[in-house]
Amino acid sequence: MIIRAETQADAAAIRAVNVAAFGGPLEAELVDRLRAAGRLTISLVAEAHAGETIAVETIVGHIAFSPVTATDGSRGFGLAPLAVRPERQRRGIGSSLMMRGLRLCRERTEGYVVVLGEPAYYGRFGFAAASAFGLNDEYGGGDAFQVLELQPGGIPQGAGVVRYSPEFALFGV
Ligand SMILES: CC(C)(COP(=O)(O)OP(=O)(O)OC[C@H]1O[C@@H](n2cnc3c(N)ncnc32)[C@H](O)[C@@H]1OP(=O)(O)O)[C@@H](O)C(=O)NCCC(=O)NCCS
Repeated sequence: MIIRAETQADAAAIRAVNVAAFGGPLEAELVDRLRAAGRLTISLVAEAHAGETIAVETIVGHIAFSPVTATDGSRGFGLAPLAVRPERQRRGIGSSLMMRGLRLCRERTEGYVVVLGEPAYYGRFGFAAASAFGLNDEYGGGDAFQVLELQPGGIPQGAGVVRYSPEFALFGV
C-alpha cells in the first residue's frame, strides 16, 4: 500500500472510490468540481499493489483538502471527502490517508482543518467540536463540525462561520 498525491491519470479511479464508499455520486462530483476550479489543494490516493491480495495496482482510498475561510478572514482547510472502498475498510487505510494528509497540511501556512463527520472517528486524530472555539459551519452540523489545530494558536477564537469553497453548494447550501 502506498499513499501518494493524485495524478491526472487517477481522476476516474478517484471517482469510482468515492461512488463506492458513499453509495452515490455527490462526493465524486464534488472532487471533480474542486479539481476543475483549482481548489483541490491536497488530494491523496491509497494505492494497493499486486500481491496485496489483488491482481493489479488499484486505487482503494482517497482524501481531499480544500480551502475554507472564516468570517474573520482566517484561512484553513476543509477535509472532504475521505473515502475507502467498502471491501477495504477497517484495515487502516483511512487512518494512513488522514495521517499523511494532516502532515502535508502542517507544512503549509493555514492554521486549522475542519471536518463534518463522525466525532468517534475524527476524534482519534485530534479533532474536537468546533463550537468550543466559537466556530460554526453553514450546514447546522452541530457536534459533527470539528476542528484540528495545524499551527500553535492556529484556531481563530470566535471567528464565526467557516465557509467551504463554492463547489460545496452541491450539498444544498
Ligand atoms: C470512514 C472511512 C474513510 C474510514 O476508513 P477505514 O480505512 O475503514 O478506516 P480505518 O481502518 O483507518 O479505521 C480506523 C478506525 O476507525 C473506526 N471507524 C471506521 N469508520 C468509523 C465510523 N464511521 N465511526 C467510528 N469509527 C469508525 C474503525 O473501526 C477503526 O477502528 P479500530 O482501529 O479500533 O478497528 C471509511 O469507513 C469510509 O470510506 N466510509 C464511507 C464514507 C465516509 O463515511 N467517509 C467519511 C465521511 S467524510
